[in-house]
This record gives sequence, C-alpha cells and structure tokens, in this order.
Amino acid sequence: MTTQDLRLTIAAELERTRARTTLLTETVDDDDLTRQHSPLMSPLVWDLAHVGNQEELWLVRDVGGRDPVRHDIDELYDAFKHARRDRPALPLLDPAEARAYLGQVRDKVFDVLDRVRFDPSVRLTDGGFAFGMIVQHEQQHDETMLATHQLRIGAPVLTAPPPPPARMIPAGEIHIKGGPFTMGTDTEPWALDNERPAHPVDVPAYWIDAAPVTNGDYLAFMDAGGYDDQRWWSERGWAHRQSAGLEAPLHWLRDHEGWHHRRFGRVEPVNPAEPVVHVCYFEAEAYAAWAGKRLPTEAEWEKAARWDPDTGRSRRYPWGDDPPGPQHANLGQRHLSPAPVGAYPEGASPAGVHQLMGDVWEWVSSGFEPYPGFSAFPYREYSEVFFGGDYRILRGGSFGTDPAAVRGTFRNWDHPIRRQIFSGFRCARDAG
Ligand SMILES: [Fe+2]
Repeated sequence: MTTQDLRLTIAAELERTRARTTLLTETVDDDDLTRQHSPLMSPLVWDLAHVGNQEELWLVRDVGGRDPVRHDIDELYDAFKHARRDRPALPLLDPAEARAYLGQVRDKVFDVLDRVRFDPSVRLTDGGFAFGMIVQHEQQHDETMLATHQLRIGAPVLTAPPPPPARMIPAGEIHIKGGPFTMGTDTEPWALDNERPAHPVDVPAYWIDAAPVTNGDYLAFMDAGGYDDQRWWSERGWAHRQSAGLEAPLHWLRDHEGWHHRRFGRVEPVNPAEPVVHVCYFEAEAYAAWAGKRLPTEAEWEKAARWDPDTGRSRRYPWGDDPPGPQHANLGQRHLSPAPVGAYPEGASPAGVHQLMGDVWEWVSSGFEPYPGFSAFPYREYSEVFFGGDYRILRGGSFGTDPAAVRGTFRNWDHPIRRQIFSGFRCARDAG
C-alpha cells in the first residue's frame, strides 16, 4: 500500500468509526448521556470525551508532537484513575463541550495524518499502527456504549434490520486433528501487543461445537434444573450463582407465555435458534459440565478458527485472509442481535466450524497470559498490567464489535462474573 493509500484508508476508518460514536451518543438526550445506567458502566458522556482524550494523547501529542488541546482534563479521562462507578461524580465535560472537544482533536489529527511518514523504523507509526490502535480503541468504546444502551431503561432509540436467517444447520461437533499450529501473529499491522508474537502450539485432538450454544440449548439446561444443581458448577461459580441469585441469562424475563428478553428497550420472545448471550463465564462452565463437555482452551478456539489442515497455515479469519464482509459474519452493529446458527455458511472455517467471528463473544477456559516472547507495546497498561489477573479470555467478537476491532488472533478479557457484555460460548471435549 502506498503512503497516500494508507492515509486514505486511515481517514476512512476514523470517519466511519466516528459516525458510529455519533449515532450512539446522538440518539439519546443529554440527561441519558450524563446519567449512569449501571454501576458497571460509565456515563456515555465519559466514554465520548475519553475517546477524544486518548486520540489527543496518542495522535496529536505523541505522533504529531503538537501542543495539548486540553491538558487539564487528562486525569478525568484516565481509566486507571477513576473506577466506572465513580465517574458520574467527576466534573466531566458536558455533552456540548465533549462534542466540541472531539471535533477540535479530530481536526488536528487530520492535519497530523497529512504530514506523517509511516517510517518502518518508527514502530508507533509503521503501517499506521497508532492510528489503528486509536480506531480500535474508539470501536471498543462503541461496543461498550452499545452495552450501556442495552442496560438503559426507556423507550427504544436504536434500530437495525434483523440478522439474516439460518441457511443450513451446522453439524453438532467438529473433530480437529492433533498437532501444532501457529497461534498469534507477527504480520497483522494493527494487531495489539498481546496477540504477538506468532508461535507454535501443539494442541491434542479435540471436538468443538460447530456453532455457539443456542438459547434453545441453554433452555434445556435451565429446564433440567441446571441453575439449582451444584454438581455442574465450579466452587467459585456456585458461590457466585448463590450470592448473585442467577436464574437465567441477564435481561431475560419470564411470564405466563415463557421466556422473553429485553433487547435495546424492546421485549421479545427468546429465539431458540440464536446463540445465547449475556451469560457469565461461570454459567458457560456449568452448561458445558451439564452437557458432558467443557469450554475450549484459547488455543483450541484459535486453532478451530484459523488452522487450515490442507496447508498447515493459520488464516487471518476462519474463511481466509479477506477482511470481514456482510456475507462472512454478524459484526459492526449492522444488526442488533446475534444471528441464528447457520446464518453464515460462507464464514465457516476450513474444518466446518461456524460463526466463530461475530454474533457473541465466546468465553474460553484460559486466563489472560502473555504469549512466549511477549513485549509490551506501546505501553504496559494496554495488556501487561492485566496478565495473571482474575480474568477469562473471550474470542471472536460479537454483533456489537466492529470488523476493525477483531480478527482471528484478537484477545478480549473480562472478569468471569461479567455478563453485561455480549458474551456467549461454545463447548469442546477431548478426542480420545
Ligand atoms: Fe478506553
């Protein structure tokens, strides 16, 4: 790609991303923007100005070497300085100030982008990395803001066409041969430090579900008394199930006609063909035990998603190296729900595993650890400070994740009790 093409690509990604941020913050009034909809989430207006502040820190000041736009607000929007529950009490920019700030920063960023040289010897800008990091950061906050919209009580404000229907029924389980594959990447220009480096991992043979666990599957677990049977739960999982009073996925409601869920302000019957969403790690683990299976490890998930048995190569995505299109996966908030299983046959992996990308983030059994040869870049706070913490990995992105913010190597992590995120899972078992 020429320098000019890279500039144009980055500019288009920045603008496309900002359009989503604008939509998520203009569809609600100022009261909704400044209110905290859940102690787990920031007020939307915090996310908005924080997105601008990170863009200013990295692109205006670091890459551009320019003077600060607003040095006085850095501390307010430092995610490490204030827990989410404390953010509403801060002297935050109001919605009009936040929008004006984002506009000022963006003007300067376009000026920096016009002049930047993507010198391969400067790691921060090689391949446009810092711009890619900021695009992905804003997209990640767009998904967080979508989760805040899901928690918001009030009349619906977001609309989108329904996802495509199922076009086939995926097989139950897929056998993946044992042996080494290449995990992680050295070549994705916008991959983050925790996805690097590429390294061989020897994975014994296993079976993995061809599709994510559906609402219908999950209802069978519920109907079998799964929430009340300690046998299926880990010790920590059972303690959490008891103390939090878990009885169904988050946002589910029961009435005389059966189970419904509230989705972006609308109450709808639960569709048994859709992947289950808004379950925590402990619920996923309990379902898998009830089903006589287990959750896949992170390496098993990535091998199922990327390994091509014919060539031995690891692909960028399950379907190949092409970027995600609407035929491949339910990504990018194009639809505001997971699609039924079997809706994306063109997105399947070579082995025949479906819907690994998009629809729901998938809990895997691994914690967040560095790959061998890891080095922190561009700062320790991106990944390194989280290694070894009380987290479980999630893979593959959800309907709320932008295609620029996920790939076959992308690693997300969260606390095992979290379920306000768009989280689901699939199961695996040993082959032997
Ligand atoms: Fe952030």
